[in-house]
Amino acid sequence: MSPVLGKDLLDLESLSAEQLRLILDTAEPFKAISERAIKKVPVLRGKTIVNLFYENSTRTRTSFEFAEKRLSADTVNIAVAASSIAKGETLVDTARNLEAMRIDMVVIRHPASGAPRFLAQRIESNVVNAGDGTHEHPTQGLLDLLTLRDKCGRLEGLKVCIVGDVMHSRVARSNIWGLRKLGAEVAVCGPRSLLPAAIESLGVHHVFARVEQAIEWADALNVLRLQLERMQAGYIPSLREYNRVFGVSRARLERAPKDLVILHPGPINRGVEIDSDVADGPHSVILDQVTNGVAVRMAVLYLLAGGRPELATAAQGGDSR
Ligand code: CP
Repeated sequence: MSPVLGKDLLDLESLSAEQLRLILDTAEPFKAISERAIKKVPVLRGKTIVNLFYENSTRTRTSFEFAEKRLSADTVNIAVAASSIAKGETLVDTARNLEAMRIDMVVIRHPASGAPRFLAQRIESNVVNAGDGTHEHPTQGLLDLLTLRDKCGRLEGLKVCIVGDVMHSRVARSNIWGLRKLGAEVAVCGPRSLLPAAIESLGVHHVFARVEQAIEWADALNVLRLQLERMQAGYIPSLREYNRVFGVSRARLERAPKDLVILHPGPINRGVEIDSDVADGPHSVILDQVTNGVAVRMAVLYLLAGGRPELATAAQGGDSR
């Protein structure tokens, strides 16, 4: 049981500002490990972690695995399609059978909102939410906070607009909770059909109907992927129309009163929600987000395993070379 985080990391909604700051501060010294020739410290030696992904992932699954290996944990990836889940085994049965092999943590991505909490209430291992349905993606929210804090030097008072498919986005919810708790001003922008009906109840400061308004207001844009795989209805007339009205383009950014920091959680639909010359341009921090994802996930695993934030610097010095 972590004295900082408790048993699990399920969302950012239930974390305090102090807990969020402790995770971000703990991630800082872990960044250096990934820059070394030998990227390994013995912090989680002897711990066994299972990555259980019921949905596709490149960044999250890989960076959790790198984080686990760089902390010297033993890791197992369950390929859902090749497991007995494909024969109908339930989530809880799957996890209990893994626990019978004496695991310590489960990192889970699941299409159903609430699945990580459901699991956390039924197993003894620590559970980390790697994205559940349209609910939350807490480690993505944390790496976005870390990247913004690195780039802008602060979160307090920073104006961040989340642009696009907020309706289907667990990244948006984790960002809204995390940014607000740490004192940022948060806006959303998108077609009304892609904004949740009760978006104001999440405490956003502005809801912009035009991307030009968002660009004029914000210090940073977090541009969301259109999640076409979650859209059963016709939420937008066409991708071309969406890009014309809401796409983040260089021409639009050139009319902004200041340079904006550009984030995107990936994967990118190039030429739809964001143009390539913006995604690859000088103000994009998209690959910094990916780099920070490893350090943030190292920090979360370290803290859940009982590591103390004030010893994180010493832990990264504990290179096992
Ligand atoms: N940002 C994110 O969750 O990417 P993946 O789906 O590739 O993990």
